[in-house]
Amino acid sequence: MIVMLNNKCNLNKEEFLNYLEDLKTIRTEEDLIVCPSTINLSMYDNNVFPLGAQNVSKYITGPHTGEISSKQLKSYGVKYCIVGHSERRQEQNESNKDTNEKIKMLLNEGIIPVLCVGETKEERDNNTYKEVITKEINDAIKDLNEEEQESIIVAYEPIYSIGTGIIPKNNEIEEIFKLIKEILPTNKILYGGSANENNIDELKQTKEIDGYLLGGLSLNITKLKDFLSKL
Ligand code: PGA
Repeated sequence: MIVMLNNKCNLNKEEFLNYLEDLKTIRTEEDLIVCPSTINLSMYDNNVFPLGAQNVSKYITGPHTGEISSKQLKSYGVKYCIVGHSERRQEQNESNKDTNEKIKMLLNEGIIPVLCVGETKEERDNNTYKEVITKEINDAIKDLNEEEQESIIVAYEPIYSIGTGIIPKNNEIEEIFKLIKEILPTNKILYGGSANENNIDELKQTKEIDGYLLGGLSLNITKLKDFLSKL
């Protein structure tokens, strides 16, 4: 199982250094990937688990104040990068086109994109969720060749589940995974949104899940260990 830890905008310098020490105490067979906030990437010294980033610029190196390019990420040992997270779509107005451009930048550097897709509560209620997710994927993979498409990891993260403690029903997750597989039949698919040590037994019933994207839980090593022991 892939388990991605998305620290989001958390952990200052000292907290992150302590966090790294705690990470080193994790013993697991799972494929753990650590995604610190960008400012902490250069302090990541733990070679046990691969490094991921939470965002990348859609621009190449040059006059783009405040941006971090895929070339820079690569030079810090980043192997994976989250793109299209709903928090960036909502707070930074990132579009499907931006996501597509970012994916291309990552692929140019051999970094594996982890494409987040998912619907709002409103889109689920008004039954447009399948359309929304299909468009998020199709726009994100536009102009990519088959090999490039296959290299992407997809993370299904219903927006109403992120940080809320609410998880979808197994059949709802299965329906979306089926939809994703219609477009990307061989890609790995993760589930994200309030996954934790208490609901993992329930989530595990969905057999197609290849792994999890963890936000809140990534910050609590004790609970994370509990979660990992139940996979
Ligand atoms: P959460 O976040 O686990 O805190 O719900 C998941 C995510 O946003 O990737």
